[in-house]
Amino acid sequence: MTSGVHKFYINGEWKNSESGHTIAIKSPYLHQVIGEVQAVTKAEVDEAIQYAHEAQAKWADVSLQERGSYLYKWADELVHMQDEIAEVIMKEVGKAYNDAKKEVVRTADFIRYTIEEAEHTQGESMRGDSFPGGSKSKIAIVERVPLGVVLAISPFNYPVNLSAAKIAPALMAGNAVVFKPATQGALSGTKMIEALSKAGLPKGLVNLVTGKGSDIGDYIVEHKGINMISFTGGTETGNHLAKTATKVPLVLELGGKDPGIVREDADLDEAVKQIISGAFSYSGQRCTAIKRVLVHEKVADELVSMLKEEIDKLAVGSPEDNSTVVPLIDTKSADFVQGLITDAIEKGATLITGNKREENLIYPTLLDHVTGDMQVAWEEPFGPVLPIIRVTSDEEAVSITNESEYGLQASIFTKDINKAFAIANKIEVGSVQINGRTERGPDHFPFIGVKGSGMGVQGIKKSIESMTREKITVLNLAE
Ligand code: NAP
Ligand code: G3H
Repeated sequence: MTSGVHKFYINGEWKNSESGHTIAIKSPYLHQVIGEVQAVTKAEVDEAIQYAHEAQAKWADVSLQERGSYLYKWADELVHMQDEIAEVIMKEVGKAYNDAKKEVVRTADFIRYTIEEAEHTQGESMRGDSFPGGSKSKIAIVERVPLGVVLAISPFNYPVNLSAAKIAPALMAGNAVVFKPATQGALSGTKMIEALSKAGLPKGLVNLVTGKGSDIGDYIVEHKGINMISFTGGTETGNHLAKTATKVPLVLELGGKDPGIVREDADLDEAVKQIISGAFSYSGQRCTAIKRVLVHEKVADELVSMLKEEIDKLAVGSPEDNSTVVPLIDTKSADFVQGLITDAIEKGATLITGNKREENLIYPTLLDHVTGDMQVAWEEPFGPVLPIIRVTSDEEAVSITNESEYGLQASIFTKDINKAFAIANKIEVGSVQINGRTERGPDHFPFIGVKGSGMGVQGIKKSIESMTREKITVLNLAE
């Protein structure tokens, strides 16, 4: 179903690129090519942006209800195509089939909520006489208007959800979109756009440009025709974008090193459940995965032994069997994770379980007595390795959390809500989860990364806001 050469989507048409080149997409676990996408040219990027501007000029005048009607059809189509799309996601990015299906359904829910949120967005009015010397005959009407053409760049790990999470708010806000999926993720992105094209959206409003970030990325990002960039991906790529982008609004959702802070008074059964799911689902290939545990030394032995027991029960293997731990996205990523494990062991960490590898399948690995000189204490692995760092106080946990270059989320496990808030107030992250795993959803919550984890806010309402600007019209009434 995925096999074959796929076209890119421009001005409502599926086309082969003039480049004559395609990019072969290899499955991370089948180890064979499962399809090819077009390597578009810079001239085709220019055309996509031009068509988007033409379509946006008309779309801005389309009512919210009518915009919503197209997007409802898109959501329905995604649900209708969920098995087909889930299979592509599974094969392309190695996500467990059931999780891939959940991603598609979650995306449809996201789109529907976005429509409703946009339809209920209200402007405001302001009276002039609330400022010294102002007059009540002056009234400002403050509305939100679209920015123009939004560039949506997404990562491999949620190839449908994190793409639609940019496209839907952009469209409801009255923008057009140029969508560049992750290359490993482009087949899934293409399927998602196929669903959108079936919704009969006006031509040119959403254009799919496939090609490697290293070839066309800088060209699109620096393009004068782009009015806003919504990017999700690695911190290195995000930092690069922040330097290359021209003066346009930029939302960056980047990497993380989320800690699970376990206080000595934590409910360890619950903490273990949350940490295991937080750290190892989809082999830890989630920006919000728990990527280190900072545990009070008094409960560390017990926690480690409970974690080991659960890790040894995890299903490891093929996404087709709905395994929790699946092969990583590519060999380079597996080499990187293996390097972190080896470095920690060489520097004296205790291997509790794991450190076994078959091609790019890394078995879930638990490392105890991890210290600050080990790379795994600080680097984002994007793989199934969990370092345990023992601490002696809340202050030490806060200090190690804040020493990180990242600031996405953190979990705090404790029965003392006052202590939880005291820690939450001191740690430099976008969101704190009290007695729960780190995670993005539900998708209408604001989602934010600070420090190296990002800039700007996502989450349905916030995404719509970030893709609009305020426009003020002042009424000057006769006195
Ligand atoms: P990535 O390598 O940074 O790629 C992300 C996207 O950027 C891809 O579409 C990529 O295209 C594109 N790109 C690469 N170079 C570019 C350039 N010069 N200009 C414009 N675009 C360029 O990230 P990934 O490996 O796909 O995803 C994993 C990372 O994303 C992890 O660090 C994870 O934490 C982060 N992430 C963060 C969030 C969040 O919300 N905070 C969510 C999910 C993932 P190609 O694929 O063609 O290179
Ligand atoms: O990979 C980053 C995603 O935004 C994480 O989403 O917490 O729902 O898995 P999630």
